[in-house]
Amino acid sequence: MKLCMIGTGYVGLVSGTCFADLGNNVICVDKDKKKIKHLSNANIPIYEPGLSELVLKNYKNKKLTFSTNLKKSVKDSDIIFICVGTPTKKKGSSADLSQIYNVSKEISSSINKFKIIITKSTVPVTTGDQIEKILSKKNSKKKFSVVSNPEFLREGEAIRDFTYPDRIVIGSNDKKSNNILKNLYGPLISKGAQYVHTTRRAAELIKYASNSFLATKITFINEIANLCEKTGINVEDISIGMGLDKRIGGRFLRAGPAYGGSCFPKDTKAIISTADKFKVNLSVIKSVIKSNKNRSNLLLDRVYEILNKKIKNKKIAFLGVTFKANTDDMRDSSSLSMIPTLSKKGAKIKYFDPTGLKDEFKKIKNVSYENSIRKSVEGSDLVIIHTEWNDFKSINFKNLIKNKKCIIYDMRNIYSANKIKTQGFKYYSVGR
Ligand code: UGA
Repeated sequence: MKLCMIGTGYVGLVSGTCFADLGNNVICVDKDKKKIKHLSNANIPIYEPGLSELVLKNYKNKKLTFSTNLKKSVKDSDIIFICVGTPTKKKGSSADLSQIYNVSKEISSSINKFKIIITKSTVPVTTGDQIEKILSKKNSKKKFSVVSNPEFLREGEAIRDFTYPDRIVIGSNDKKSNNILKNLYGPLISKGAQYVHTTRRAAELIKYASNSFLATKITFINEIANLCEKTGINVEDISIGMGLDKRIGGRFLRAGPAYGGSCFPKDTKAIISTADKFKVNLSVIKSVIKSNKNRSNLLLDRVYEILNKKIKNKKIAFLGVTFKANTDDMRDSSSLSMIPTLSKKGAKIKYFDPTGLKDEFKKIKNVSYENSIRKSVEGSDLVIIHTEWNDFKSINFKNLIKNKKCIIYDMRNIYSANKIKTQGFKYYSVGR
């Protein structure tokens, strides 16, 4: 099939490349000329394991092409995926849909034959209705179908999530587009993915409800971890004991720092804003946002406690600063609040991240990037393991740190207390 992905950000580029790998002809469109030039030279703007190889393979065999010409690309395609950003509005907490509507207007003047227009971007309930209105101004309703097909890709695992999804959600109000899309996703359905056909509005809401629920699960276990710390219980026992109940499930029950990234913080706010419009109070999600906001303060309080409230001139090393492993994404990472706060209190911070130096910390006093684990932890009073990169999973601290008074605070529960204690260091973790 001929597909057009509008927006070559995370969602558009990964989905477009994977669709091309399934044998479709895919044009990835972006108005950013520089980006398209880079992509045409197989320079991938994001860090995602396996993506460059897959882009290169499909670009070489001409299944994947890149363009800045939206109108021509739409005309040449049967199915159009809108994959532009829906960030939180500068004022308020609702999703900024300006890019969605601008793109819809452009598509509107390029509908030369029947087209399926799909929102893959995360969009609030009723956005599809608005897109339909925009398209109907210039086109007969017989010429197009507006569908919601949310993505459930995790950064760092996106190719696997696309290839082996738990479910494919198609929200369409007509049979024709549903049949075409079932066919498009055929290769994934035959490998075991569940195909869920709903109304368009339901599909839009499934996405927000899923992300909000996962954020709730994490926040829940994080609060239970607080109780575990006070009662001498290992939170991992709780996660296992709860998770084995099939009604609960064991995933997303890892306690740690505040959840971050480009999705959970933004989507939990946006769903509340949508519910407010319909005069519905989503009090659970409101509490989740509040609890997660407070999480970095709680973990910082623990840092103060560990260092006996003497932060000034303390040498602190951060291992990992991104919001999770296998991504270079810093959006809403808890390190963004922790590092500046510790710096304000007079700590001297060195950090190492496998994805390199971060602009976010360039202007912060007494914060410097080191290009190796060894250099960052050398001479430290406290080492904070902030992100669960594999690079940090078998560090021999004994070899790297001469100062035996150095303390390790493992915010991702990578190590066992015994293992670190036998190396001669004091060790703290989360909920244990
Ligand atoms: C999330 C969802 O998992 C995807 O299904 C969804 O498609 C995506 O948002 C999106 O809406 O585009 P992502 O933000 O890439 O994916 O990352 P996650 O793996 O979900 O992690 C989010 C945050 O939760 C991270 O800060 C991570 O460290 C934290 N987390 C996750 C925990 O603290 N504990 C866990 O058990 C799992």
